[in-house]
Parts: sequence; C-alpha cells; structure tokens
Amino acid sequence: MDFLYAQVDFSGPSFKAAMSLKEGDGGLTPGRLVFAEDLERFTGRNYEHMLADLCGGTVPASSNLGGPSVVSLAHAAQMLQGTGHSVCFYGARGTDETGTLIEQALAKLPFTGGGLLLKEGPTARTDVLSDPHYDNGQGERTFIHLPGAASLLYPEDLESSFFDAHLVAFGGTALLPHIHDGLTELLKKARKNDAVTVANLVYDYRSETHIPQMKWRLGMEDDAYPYIDILIADRDEALKTSGCDSAEAAAGWFLARGTGAVIITQGVKPLVLAAGKGVFAPLELTYLPVCEKINRELREGIHHGDTTGCGDNFTGGIIVAMTEQLPCRSGGKADLREACIPAIAAGGFACFTLGGVFYENRPGEKRERIASYSEAYRKQLERQ
Ligand SMILES: Nc1ncnc2c1ncn2[C@@H]1O[C@H](COP(=O)(O)OP(=O)(O)OP(=O)(O)O)[C@@H](O)[C@H]1O
Ligand SMILES: [Mg+2]
Repeated sequence: MDFLYAQVDFSGPSFKAAMSLKEGDGGLTPGRLVFAEDLERFTGRNYEHMLADLCGGTVPASSNLGGPSVVSLAHAAQMLQGTGHSVCFYGARGTDETGTLIEQALAKLPFTGGGLLLKEGPTARTDVLSDPHYDNGQGERTFIHLPGAASLLYPEDLESSFFDAHLVAFGGTALLPHIHDGLTELLKKARKNDAVTVANLVYDYRSETHIPQMKWRLGMEDDAYPYIDILIADRDEALKTSGCDSAEAAAGWFLARGTGAVIITQGVKPLVLAAGKGVFAPLELTYLPVCEKINRELREGIHHGDTTGCGDNFTGGIIVAMTEQLPCRSGGKADLREACIPAIAAGGFACFTLGGVFYENRPGEKRERIASYSEAYRKQLERQ
C-alpha cells in the first residue's frame, strides 16, 4: 500500500533532523527512497513516532494499492474477466490496519483465487512524503519503505496451487528478499509444471543501498535467466541487472543468458524488445513507439492521473496477451510484437489514473476503454 502525506515541510526541524549526511547512511533525501529500518538506525528513533513528527500527526491524504505483482495481475484479472481464464494473486499481509486496507482493495478486484498469507507485524507499505513548496515551489517527494510482512514471505509459503497454472508471473520480487533469493528454484518449479514464466522487475533498493557498486542479481547465483520466458524491465532496472550501458546491449545480455524474450520500457521513449527462443517466435531487436493518442490526450490535459504503475499495467497487458496466445504451449510460437500492442495501450492508460489500479464501475469497463487506444495504436503502427 502507498500512503501519500501531501503537506510535509522538508525544511522543518523533524525532517532536518532525519536528513541524510552522506550517501547510503539511511537518512532522508528529497526525491529518494530509504528503508524504515535504515532510517531508524540512522536517527536512533522508532519509525512510527518519527513519521508522526514528520507529518505533524496528520493522516494520509490518500492511499493506493501498489506493487508490481498486484497491479499487473489486477489489470489481467479485469481484462480477462468473463473469458473463462482465472487470475490469482498471491501475497502477504501483516496484522495491522494496512493489511485490512489491502484486503478491502483486493475485494474490489475480480481475482478468482490466491490470497494473502497472514504474517505477524506490519504490512509492506511505502509512505510518500510530499512537500509542494520544496525547491522554490517545484515540489518534491521522499519515499520511506517498510517491508514488514514482505520480508517474512518464503518460497515454502507458496502452496502447490500457486504453481498449478498455465502462466506464472513473479512481479517485483526485489521487494520480497526471500522470494527474490529463491527465484531460480521457484521458476524451475513453475517450468516443471509446464507453465509459461513471466518476471517483471522493480527497482532493487536492497542491492542498491547495501552493495551500490555491484550489478543486481536475479536468483541467488544470478542464474534465473534461463527459466524466464519473458523478462520485463524499465531501462534503469535492465541496465542495473545486466551491468550493460544501453537498453540494446541489456536485451542482448538477457537473451545470451537464456531468457526467452525481453522487453525494456523507457517511459515515453520507444520500447526495446527481442526474442530468442522458447515460447516466442524469434524476433530481432525491435523498437516500438508509445501510443500517440494517449500522449496527445495527456498533453491536452483531458485526464488527471500520474505515471505510477505504467510499467506494471504494461506487464499486465503482456500477461493478458500471453494468456490469449497460450496455444503456443502446444508447439505454436507466440508473437512478441503482437503481445506488445495491447500492453502499450494498457501502460499508457495507467497515466489516466492516480495510482496504478483502475477500479471499474462495471465488469468489462477497462477492456472497453483500452480497446479504443489499442485500435488507435495499431493504426499508428500501420502509418509508420
Ligand atoms: N507519458 C506516456 N505516454 C504514453 N505512454 C506511456 C507514458 N508513460 C508510460 N507509458 C507507457 O507505459 C510503459 C511503461 O512505462 P515506464 O517505462 O515508465 O514503466 P516503469 O518505469 O516501470 O513505471 P512504474 O514502475 O511506475 O510502473 C511505456 O513503455 C509506455 O508504453
Ligand atoms: Mg516498473
């Protein structure tokens, strides 16, 4: 869950007392994320008490369901509702009020199974502190992440029903340390059950904070790649995970390590994609632009949202397209470029909502609204 505190004074005494003095010391830096436990170590204070001081005892202005796994699967569940496919989300919650808020948010989404394991202590959350007056009125945000129950989820917690699927997706596992470290074995298990495997990455703050000079790993021995059918990352994540200095080189690196297909998103810039082996038909390095119709409507100010969850909804779009192309499991090959078309519409559509999840007023609403952008995007590609 993401909680937004909209009026925090970064120049006030509480914030100043918690400000970072040097890189990686655990203190707060405007624009950056720290872990609550590192901040506690840095200040010697209890995080909840400190948060109350930082926010002047105010309650959050808003809260949003977040996280690469739940956001991508929420999209898939909404898009696939009524098609005979079922979408299950597996996660963990703590014993606090945040856990209850997540349960309430999940109840509004058409998941057909899965659920949250209950772990003692707080639920994973990110507190977003915003100072609209910072930097001469430009405004800035600071993020504090509390992993809570996410640190207590282990590979053994994933029951056999988790693997009993045609497609298994691991989203943002860098936020779940034990799942992240056990990723290779988990992927192998999914593969053994004949599932298509999807991994979508998230910024790996744990690696970046504790071993900043090192490339990030996927799997304990950095050996998860051959078991991933499709790997999705934004540019920063792709460069940090591959150790390469361009999206093109990173895509080549992942394929050379045995990944079936790779998609690297770059915000409004064109996506980079390529497929080598496995369920996808081979595809040489290809660029796809973002959806112009969405960009235009954003420029015209027709919608009021933010870019949170664009990548996660994009991944959701790929999961939907893969599900629809699942006959590829019986020997046919999936088409990566084709899968990207509705996904690019879905990623862009997320710019129209605050937070990553669009709550439907009726089943099929999101599907209908995205269809017009997919169509416009197809025409855009035909013109180019
Ligand atoms: N301004 C935009 N206009 C149109 N499409 C966009 C825009 N921003 C993002 N998208 C779409 O969403 C996709 C994913 O965006 P991006 O690369 O920003 O993901 P991300 O960094 O993983 O985001 P997040 O982690 O917040 O979900 C892009 O490839 C693009 O298709
Ligand atoms: Mg992302």
